[in-house]
Amino acid sequence: MEQTLILAIESSCDETSAAIVKNGREVLSNIISSQIDIHKKFGGVVPEVASRNHVLNISTVVGEAMEEAGVSYDDLDAVAVTYGPGLIGALLVGVSYAKAVSSAKHLPLVAVNHIHGHIAANYITHPELEPPFVCLVASGGHSHILYVKDYAEFEILGRTRDDAAGEAFDKVARVIGLGYPGGPKIEALAKEGNPDAIRFPQVEFADTPYDFSFSGVKTSVINYLHTKEQKNEEFNRADLAASFQKAVVEALTRHTIRAAKDKGTDKVVLAGGVSANGALRASFEEATKKEGLGLFYPQPILCTDNAAMIGSAGFYKYLRKDFADSGLNAVANLKL
Ligand SMILES: Nc1ncnc2c1ncn2[C@@H]1O[C@H](COP(=O)(O)OP(=O)(O)OP(=O)(O)O)[C@@H](O)[C@H]1O
Ligand SMILES: [Mg+2]
Repeated sequence: MEQTLILAIESSCDETSAAIVKNGREVLSNIISSQIDIHKKFGGVVPEVASRNHVLNISTVVGEAMEEAGVSYDDLDAVAVTYGPGLIGALLVGVSYAKAVSSAKHLPLVAVNHIHGHIAANYITHPELEPPFVCLVASGGHSHILYVKDYAEFEILGRTRDDAAGEAFDKVARVIGLGYPGGPKIEALAKEGNPDAIRFPQVEFADTPYDFSFSGVKTSVINYLHTKEQKNEEFNRADLAASFQKAVVEALTRHTIRAAKDKGTDKVVLAGGVSANGALRASFEEATKKEGLGLFYPQPILCTDNAAMIGSAGFYKYLRKDFADSGLNAVANLKL
């Protein structure tokens, strides 16, 4: 059987990553150099610091990906790269590097939307998964419910009106003193707490039943904290984390299942960093079982930013001969 080998590069935020992906589904290597320890002391990602570290790391990361996969440039069929959305300076490092490789080695260049990559992470974990399906993308910058008609056709059913789910996790983690990145820390603390201790609001929009709003729950957490502090009252941080997590998870689940039922699909797919959350997975397991729907989510390492998912999304563009030229630029606010 003919095989297609793609070198994929991802540098949209604080991970420098390179991967070699075979036929869009098999990962031969996936090197992820995280800058979490660098940005931790600032309480979040500092864009200029991220760009500088991508520049320092990218050659090494690509070299390691090639070496671990045991491939040379002559074995490759294309170079795929994230060109947006993300931090402009960070994206430019990956895009420039991919353009240089493409030009020097005469390889087609494939420009990948980072969010398409998050969805494609599922094609790696579940080699049998094919569109159409309803997908929840819940990450640091996005909370979208999509109808994925085909590998290249996406219909937006719902989106957040304000904060993304991951962003809400990160902000709440900061106000309760857990630090960055917030998602995994809230999840760990929530395991020791009672999710029914505090009732936080869950917003519904009558005209757009698949839309989300997470700024209200975030503000409620902050108000709760301030009230407790002003009254000098003790409060349980684990209960707070668990109750906040429950409010977000319930809204994500309810709206996505609603969309899946309305669309008449039998498959629900989760994507993005928040889909690593155990409580979210458990909630979806229960809801999809009840509705007789299939559930798919990526293995944990493929939920957050990585180049393997870019290699998978890039493969389906490669098959359509959807190539970029040497004029490719990064687009910070690239739409779906
Ligand atoms: N276990 C978890 N529970 C909840 N949230 C999590 C968990 N793990 C990661 N996250 C959240 O996922 C986000 C990171 O995911 P991801 O890398 O997909 O986002 P991003 O790349 O920053 O944003 P985008 O993909 O929208 O551009 C962070 O907000 C982080 O807090
Ligand atoms: Mg991401």
